Amino acid sequence: MQPTILVTGGTGYIGSHTTVALQQAGYRVVILDNLSNSTPAVLDAIAQITGVKPEFTQGDVRDRATLDMLFDAYKIAAVLHFAGLKAVGESTEKPLAYYDNNVHGSVQLLSAMQRAGLKSFVFSSSATVYGDPQKLPLTEDHPRSATNPYGHTKLVVEDILENLYRSEAGWRIARLRYFNPVGAHTSGLIGEAPQGVPNNLMPYVAQVATGRRPKVQVFGSDYNTADGTGVRDYIHVMDLALGHVKALQSCLQSEQDLLTVNLGTGVGYSVLDMIRAFEQASGKTIPYDLVARRPGDIAACWADTQLASQKLDWRAQKGIQEMCDDAWRWETRS
Ligand code: NAD
Ligand code: UD1
Repeated sequence: MQPTILVTGGTGYIGSHTTVALQQAGYRVVILDNLSNSTPAVLDAIAQITGVKPEFTQGDVRDRATLDMLFDAYKIAAVLHFAGLKAVGESTEKPLAYYDNNVHGSVQLLSAMQRAGLKSFVFSSSATVYGDPQKLPLTEDHPRSATNPYGHTKLVVEDILENLYRSEAGWRIARLRYFNPVGAHTSGLIGEAPQGVPNNLMPYVAQVATGRRPKVQVFGSDYNTADGTGVRDYIHVMDLALGHVKALQSCLQSEQDLLTVNLGTGVGYSVLDMIRAFEQASGKTIPYDLVARRPGDIAACWADTQLASQKLDWRAQKGIQEMCDDAWRWETRS
């Protein structure tokens, strides 16, 4: 019997790639997604890649009746919780929507798990919890802070998980702090599909390469970095997905655990490095302007990856050229 995993937000960007990795590792996946930022076509694409269409329920993680129905209908072994809102700028305009979706949604989900007697949980946290780095690479014990409501929701849910873990024996929890996920599945069948103008660098660069937007604006060229532009730890989304499979296995094998690990490559690249790698992948010239810094941005950020390697026996394998090649294949899909 294959263990059944509930994946919330499973038709979204990271959730869909993780569903592929889970199915390929032999798990049965049930997705709960309200389709606020994804479409059901993703389910067919996953079926095309893996040969198996995941079970799907359209619904909201804040809906108690839906959650109870799911835990009743399926013998679920663990929950991977991706569902939530993720745009930093929007979170400052609509903070209540962010606390409601990300914090209240997580509380509802954990409460339903408690009612169902289920205690294995993997949470999508973010390197944003480190705030402005005091030293690099970032280790998991670096002090945490948040400068916007989105980041604050991640801090709060991390704390809720720690409180829950300490309140009751038997919880197996992984808090995974993602660095900058980019790229797409190598098939070109699933990838990141932002609505409107992309907030993040890579989808923006991809749209300039296709000619959909005229130029990249490079936010800041006076940072204390090698070429003056911001440096980040970009990680291929399929490496990230495999990190989740390892975290899940670790949860399922332990009696109780609260694991907090970085999922990054440990290597930082600048904005100009990424533009150049994308030029190579696409064979296009990518015009750009150097403009003012984006408020709230940090100069540089990359992960210490030792803990993930020790605790999960996991290490990212794919480099920036593969990230850009796969993103380009997805961007130019017919
Ligand atoms: P995404 O928007 O592509 O996926 C989220 C999915 O959740 C979407 O399919 C959306 O329809 C669904 N959803 C949202 N609210 C829901 C709700 N209340 N009930 C049910 N479904 C809901 O985002 P993503 O990039 O795949 O991110 C997944 C998680 O990882 C998020 O929690 C995000 O904060 C976190 N994260 C993402 C990044 C990143 O760069 N993408 C970095 C760090 C952390
Ligand atoms: C952003 C979020 C962060 C989140 C992360 C996940 C902000 C302020 N931070 O991080 O909370 O965890 O996404 O992916 O939104 N850049 C440009 N031009 C652009 C877009 C970006 O030069 O059009 C630069 C940025 O200044 C930065 C780098 O590219 O140096 C990466 O930016 P982005 O992809 O938005 O990610 P982060 O800012 O690291």
